[in-house]
Amino acid sequence: MSNNWSVNQLNHLEIGEVDVLELVKNYGTPLYVMDESKIRKQCKTFLNGFQHHIVKTEIIYASKAFLNLSMCELIKEEGLSLDVVSGGEMFTAIHSGFPVSKIFFHGNNKSVEELKMALEHRIGTIVIDNADEFNRLSLLVEKDRKIRVMLRINPGIDAHTHEYIRTTKNDSKFGVSIFDPKTLFLIQLIHNHPSFDFVGFHSHIGSQIFEENSFKELAVTNLKYCAHIQKQLGIEVKELNLGGGFGAHYTNEDHPFSLETFLPKILDTIHQESIGLGIKTPKILIEPGRAIVAEAGYTLYTISGTKETFGGKNFVFVDGSMADHIRTALYQAKYNASLGNRMMDKVEKNYTVTGKACETGDIIIKDIMLPIPKENDLLVVYSTGAYHYSMSSNYNRLLKPAVVFASNGKTKLVVKRETYQDLLRSDIRLGK
Ligand code: LLP
Repeated sequence: MSNNWSVNQLNHLEIGEVDVLELVKNYGTPLYVMDESKIRKQCKTFLNGFQHHIVKTEIIYASKAFLNLSMCELIKEEGLSLDVVSGGEMFTAIHSGFPVSKIFFHGNNKSVEELKMALEHRIGTIVIDNADEFNRLSLLVEKDRKIRVMLRINPGIDAHTHEYIRTTKNDSKFGVSIFDPKTLFLIQLIHNHPSFDFVGFHSHIGSQIFEENSFKELAVTNLKYCAHIQKQLGIEVKELNLGGGFGAHYTNEDHPFSLETFLPKILDTIHQESIGLGIKTPKILIEPGRAIVAEAGYTLYTISGTKETFGGKNFVFVDGSMADHIRTALYQAKYNASLGNRMMDKVEKNYTVTGKACETGDIIIKDIMLPIPKENDLLVVYSTGAYHYSMSSNYNRLLKPAVVFASNGKTKLVVKRETYQDLLRSDIRLGK
């Protein structure tokens, strides 16, 4: 999917029809570039594909993948809803003017302040994670109000993905298990509470999932649970949120399934299954994050040099680090890259791409064939739109890169590059 790069006559990569050297000239490196049209196209793929003549649906963008004010505006324009998981994400969304009724507030450990903020701003749906949170929220909600809530359930499905991004094993910290008898009691309490409008369940089984079957298993298990709840408690589950997790293409080892085929098909399966179980098909919600932004993102780095170690390893040094690219160190994630200013040059040698951080684990790409790089060549790493900018840090007091949207030959700066002054903004002197 990602390999249809567009290369101009100067042998340079173009992103959103903008020459990468133009981007570097105007914004410097390291730089995150998002192809805005690609993000919008993915939003439309989800909206158009996830439709059914009977089943009602809703697409919620999981903002943890990539969020800032412009992204909120884009998501609002495309007509998706928004999943936030912290006061910070909620604040950004509210501040951008995102319709609060279309925000879902998630998280396994929401603070009292965050819950108060959600109530004060009339956030559309609060997804309750556990009994403690239910108690906390019921003490906070005003008597004369009715708030829309869902309950996060753990259906115990094992998605085949990295352990750190898998979320529904039995000992997961998220949600309440459908196998735990106490869950039934909690559902009854939520349903009976006069201030709560209990609409249904939420679940999320993990991220970067390539098997259609994992989603099917999730849907069927959850529907069976809905039928069980209806039978045991007489409560109709009106909405079922199946979470996110749709895989993206990083290297040729990744084979995401076709959303165009999968999305309508799973709705059909859900509808048939509901009929078989004798329940009214609930409204189905999904929460893609990565699949919307990953492949739209590129990180641009300037190469400062190379080093062949005594042991024979070849390093390429770039002006970024694990602080702007943590996924390789954290999940052993694999990436593809090119020299953006020498796209058609012959690849000659295997390199490890590393940055400026004082860590042996500061690896951006472990193995990549490249043309012999020269100082000031431009390294472009592909598929860095999800969980890169949002997971970046100031480790080693490195500055966070700027973020630029590029599309139809135009660019727009959406996040400024940090300055050294920004680093001092929250510091307070001892003052002695
Ligand atoms: N909904 C909930 C409740 C989630 O926890 C997540 C992701 C999503 C939706 C969106 O999942 P996606 O469609 O993006 O796979 N930092 C990790 C990914 C962690 C995902 C956490 N939850 C990474 O870089 O791979």
